[in-house]
Amino acid sequence: MTQEQWSAVDSYLTDHVVGTDPVLDAALKASADAGLPAINVAPNQGKLLHLLAVIHGARRVLEIGTLGGYSAIWLARALPAGGRLISLEADPDYAEVARSNIVRAGLTDVVEIRTGAALDTLPKLADEGTDPFDLVFIDADKSNNPHYFDWALRLTRRGSVIIVDNVVRGGAVIDATSDEPSVIGTRRLFEQISTEPRVDATAVQTVGSKGYDGFLLATVTAEV
Ligand code: SAH
Ligand code: DHB
Ligand code: MG
Repeated sequence: MTQEQWSAVDSYLTDHVVGTDPVLDAALKASADAGLPAINVAPNQGKLLHLLAVIHGARRVLEIGTLGGYSAIWLARALPAGGRLISLEADPDYAEVARSNIVRAGLTDVVEIRTGAALDTLPKLADEGTDPFDLVFIDADKSNNPHYFDWALRLTRRGSVIIVDNVVRGGAVIDATSDEPSVIGTRRLFEQISTEPRVDATAVQTVGSKGYDGFLLATVTAEV
């Protein structure tokens, strides 16, 4: 199996069940034009996030790692009237690109992008006494995944959903000797979840236009 084949199959799947959307296409073009790395979720993955939010009836979503706002648009479009998505982004230039993509998407009343390192902005969110989030999408610097998962638990409720992107990274996750901070962070996250009584989780490997990776899906089973 080759990357070419995974991409061709992704194109086929996306053509049939995802389709194209001028606003999402424009968000990716504006992101590329501004020099952002193309590390957004793939269209069919964005649609998966969207459908999970719809199925869950999410009203409040927290995203850690905005980039150009591509996954934020997918998730925000899943929310009912009055729904809210807060997305955290460390890079102010990326956040500006995302804001303008959100404006083009007509989602300014739904999406709020907060700039700053997430480990600084998460405590502020908690201090504000923000209502619990129904769904959290963790997709920032993988070295901090254990901390982000802790924060996700603090900012959710029983029944909330937590999704973590990029937990396989070409299979690197099983390399116990890796000195890559992203691998170490994700392995710590798995160790943490293996003994965490407040969540019920699974993780799934994926292939496609974004290569060989995977995501983790958890639901909060206890009041936190
Ligand atoms: N969710 C996006 C992709 C996010 S890429 C999508 O699928 O469309 C990861 C993002 O996390 C990058 O934009 C990066 O700048 C941001 N990031 C990295 N470290 C961070 C930190 N400490 N706090 C917040 N965001 C961070
Ligand atoms: C990277 C980050 C992501 O969130 C992703 O989906 C793919 C790659 C990265 O930092 O390389
Ligand atoms: Mg990602």
